[in-house]
Amino acid sequence: MEQAITEKLKHKIAVVGATGLVGSIMLKVLEERNLTHNELMLAASERSVGKKLLVGGKELTVISVEEVLENVPDFALFSAGSATSLKYAPLFAQRGTVVIDNSSAWRNFDEIPLVVPQINGDVLQPVDKIIANPNCSTIQMVMALAPLHQKYGLKRIVVSTYQSVTGTGVEAVSQLMKERTGEPCQKVYPHPIDLNLFPHGGSFEPNGYTTEEMKLVHETRKILRAPQLQITATVVRVPVIGGHSEAINAEFENDFEIADVVKLLNQFAGIKVVDNPAQNEYPMPLTAHEKDEVFVGRIRRDESQTKTLNLWCVADNLRKGAATNAVEILELGIKLRQ
Ligand code: A2P
Repeated sequence: MEQAITEKLKHKIAVVGATGLVGSIMLKVLEERNLTHNELMLAASERSVGKKLLVGGKELTVISVEEVLENVPDFALFSAGSATSLKYAPLFAQRGTVVIDNSSAWRNFDEIPLVVPQINGDVLQPVDKIIANPNCSTIQMVMALAPLHQKYGLKRIVVSTYQSVTGTGVEAVSQLMKERTGEPCQKVYPHPIDLNLFPHGGSFEPNGYTTEEMKLVHETRKILRAPQLQITATVVRVPVIGGHSEAINAEFENDFEIADVVKLLNQFAGIKVVDNPAQNEYPMPLTAHEKDEVFVGRIRRDESQTKTLNLWCVADNLRKGAATNAVEILELGIKLRQ
């Protein structure tokens, strides 16, 4: 009887892009959250088909996306780039699979939910078949601002990011490491990244902003359900392997007390305040590494303007910024099915 119940609760879960940077963390998070008792299917590009990966103590063979499609999983976590998502997400959705997509392919479509479960998980409906996972920098920023927006009403955000190279992919990590040791390497960036940084993430748009900067604008408005919110962003790539940092200046409609801001942040699930300047304690990429929380510190009033706050926010871009958020959406999806 007990076994029958367990069998009934099993879902077919696919990870498309399982061999990639984010895909491999997705597998880790599935293990940590005891989701590997489900039937797992792993897909990657043709060159990885046949490769074996150890997940939840079981050796699984990487198969093609087509083979996964034929097996009709209940859920498919996609992290294999926009082209794969654009091509395959609708095919999976047509067959009834719920696709949780980490690429930017679907995020700006009005009918596609863009979800950070702690903030707008309520938008998810059982009929949703493609769900977008937001950009890593957006996720950590909205996590830090959502509880404050709820109480004080956000008016304007000015954000500068300090984004690590894992946000670009494995080749970018390789460029940084090889530049460090003086080895020849294939350049992913237009400039050296070691001992350097540049105000350039993604590609430039006609308005002079980069695609990464505009993601922060459009995605934040959508997740916070604040279409008129004023946001301006500067994205900077820094020679840090993992962990994105952000200097956020937020103006509110209503005034606040710093003590209340700290309390609200501390009470919000998924946020950890680290703010003890006397002991040199503030969030850093090294301390956020492999953590699921979004860390917030340097919380202080902007003395140049009323109702305005400065804060510093750091998160592991591969975890809450990508894999963890996707798996949290999956957990919501599973709940919606029950
Ligand atoms: P592969 O390892 O076989 O190249 P990252 O985000 O680290 O660049 O990883 C991208 C992930 O997406 C990898 O798992 C990669 O597989 C996979 N991938 C890339 N192109 C395709 C494709 N056309 N179809 C399926 N998976 C793909």
